[in-house]
Amino acid sequence: MSVNDEHDIEGLKCIGAAVAAARDAMGTHVVPGVTTAELDAIGKEHLDRYGARSAPQLAYGFPAVTCISVNDELAHGIPSPERVLRAGDLVNIDVSAELDGYWADTGASFPVGTVSAQASALLRATRLALEDGMSQARAGAPLRNIGRAVERRANSCGFRVVRNLCGHGVGRHIHEDPQVPNTFHPQDRTILREGLVITIEPFLTTGATIAVEDADGWTLRSPDGSRGAQFEHTLIITRGRPIVVT
Ligand code: CO
Ligand code: CO
Repeated sequence: MSVNDEHDIEGLKCIGAAVAAARDAMGTHVVPGVTTAELDAIGKEHLDRYGARSAPQLAYGFPAVTCISVNDELAHGIPSPERVLRAGDLVNIDVSAELDGYWADTGASFPVGTVSAQASALLRATRLALEDGMSQARAGAPLRNIGRAVERRANSCGFRVVRNLCGHGVGRHIHEDPQVPNTFHPQDRTILREGLVITIEPFLTTGATIAVEDADGWTLRSPDGSRGAQFEHTLIITRGRPIVVT
């Protein structure tokens, strides 16, 4: 969507606060021994408090409230009471939801207990890739600059970008146009317009450049067992720094 007035901005800030609160509360409970179903329940509690409804459930019939992906699962992992987090794991928590007709989407990856030096470096590089991407998000700038910045950061840190997982328009639905690639597409002539609402969500891995669907029909996994991380914000394009609502 493109925001028209203050009411739109307030609506996005409200749902943005809800998904951010759920993400952060879940993140503080990432410890060895916790199950991904327990984390999902914490996310639900926070969304309920705001009156927000799970976007993956509402839009796609996803079998849980949030998406929780562990290690080589890159996205859309299904929370389960059988999935116990172990020290050394990397876990991604992605929370998206709707409130009063506005939708927002956020994600973050967390270390479980102590993780390897490579895993720590992957988390740091992915967080920086998101910041680099956001620094290119300004009215009048080419959309492709975002993917170029993300890809440069990944390369300079020795990691790979998952090419088939992208950011996207958001605001009146969970997935809207345009796609926001995490790689450089020189032929893309899209110019970012003031008021446009998008997510930026780099997915970096220790090896894989694609994510493939699991037999469960939801989970997207690296085909070679390499591990991934993702950080995601929803933001509104302005002439200056974007308004980050999550
Ligand atoms: Co997301
Ligand atoms: Co998203």
